[in-house]
Amino acid sequence: MPGDKSVSHRAAMISALAEGTSRIRNFSASADCNATLSCLRELGVSIVREGSDLLIHGVGSDGFRGPGGPLDCGNSGTTMRLLAGILAGQDFATTVTGDESLRSRPMARIIEPLQMMGASISSNDGRAPLVIHGHKPLEPISYEMPVASAQLKSCILFAGLNANGRTEVIENEVTRDHTERMLREFAVPIESGDAEPKGEKASFAAITGPARFLARDISVPGDISSAAYFVAAAALLPGSSLQLSEVGVNPTRVLFLKQLGALGLDVEIVGVREKSNEPVGVVRVRGAERQTPSAKFDSPMMVQRLPMMIQGLIVPQLIDELPLLAVVGSQIEGGIEIRDAGELRVKESDRIAATAMNLKAMGAEVVEFDDGLRVSGQTQLRGAKIDPRGDHRIAMAFTVAGLIAQGETDIEDAECVGVSFPEFFELLDSVVER
Ligand code: S3P
Repeated sequence: MPGDKSVSHRAAMISALAEGTSRIRNFSASADCNATLSCLRELGVSIVREGSDLLIHGVGSDGFRGPGGPLDCGNSGTTMRLLAGILAGQDFATTVTGDESLRSRPMARIIEPLQMMGASISSNDGRAPLVIHGHKPLEPISYEMPVASAQLKSCILFAGLNANGRTEVIENEVTRDHTERMLREFAVPIESGDAEPKGEKASFAAITGPARFLARDISVPGDISSAAYFVAAAALLPGSSLQLSEVGVNPTRVLFLKQLGALGLDVEIVGVREKSNEPVGVVRVRGAERQTPSAKFDSPMMVQRLPMMIQGLIVPQLIDELPLLAVVGSQIEGGIEIRDAGELRVKESDRIAATAMNLKAMGAEVVEFDDGLRVSGQTQLRGAKIDPRGDHRIAMAFTVAGLIAQGETDIEDAECVGVSFPEFFELLDSVVER
């Protein structure tokens, strides 16, 4: 699988902040990660491609230069939110902006803690463009996140690299921990652990600045969120058998595969080992003839009626896979209900509305809630015209739906998959039999 997008963003930014030249293997070719590279170049970082490797000449935490104009983060929330943490600690001002989708997404969540740390930020009513007047050094803070977001956590930790003292982030729900792992890989000390008694599942990550560190060689694991579309398609298409190697299987990212297993689908992870402080493994999947949920209901009557519930603390660990899980849910007995997922409305598109609209177009029964949706199960989907609303994950989820549907599915603007996975259609073509 092509390199993980989340890990690639972090590898590029942390390498840029390091002293010396880092080599990054299997760097994501996604448009989002290219946006990160072009912003770093504007900040004076020299980056060279060597085949599928990237060489990043780190400038150290004092080495960025003020860019000549606004930094364009394209469609990439990760670029904007993580980079903002770095820019907050610089002694110059930077404007960061992006495409129409990114300019509509909430940025107040990063503005608040960065201002508490001493940066001054103006915005378009909590949205980009943001003008970030950095402050050097920043003030350390202890911050309890009001929203479960790895992007917010990473933004604050990156700002903490340029703060004088210990910056701590407390989260009440587990989110992906690639930033903590990558910083440790670069030998930056990060403390982490349980943050009892704040909340049942509360945890903290803390960094003591100012931090200086040296370049490293990094291997980026295959993207498990990209692999998810292949896994779901193979699991739902009877007679399929697929093996994906070198896939990142970080525990904060594998919940989708575990859910498929809980639904009785034949998915396993084998051969796990560590690479650049991230677990990687082989994912094997076989298409089942008939799927039944393995949920522990008392009577068979209940199995008929109850949808599989996805809600609560697990939601942030499944966040990018929820549209796909809704498609999978349309195939299982009882269907699926997803709640506590209001964040989906402020992703690259309103993913609750986009998923509901397109599933309905394919003949599924869907009820939309403010914070999620319910999809009836065991639906024979029919081919339809799909509008992914420019959102890569909607386009890929509905390509999987198109594979299991009867009749032709036409995905408009399908090239939007390039935001995370430009190789998607070519790779899919190489494993789908006609
Ligand atoms: C990401 C975190 C998630 C995810 C996004 C990538 C990251 O966003 O949806 O695709 O790389 O940190 P939030 O942390 O804002 O939920």
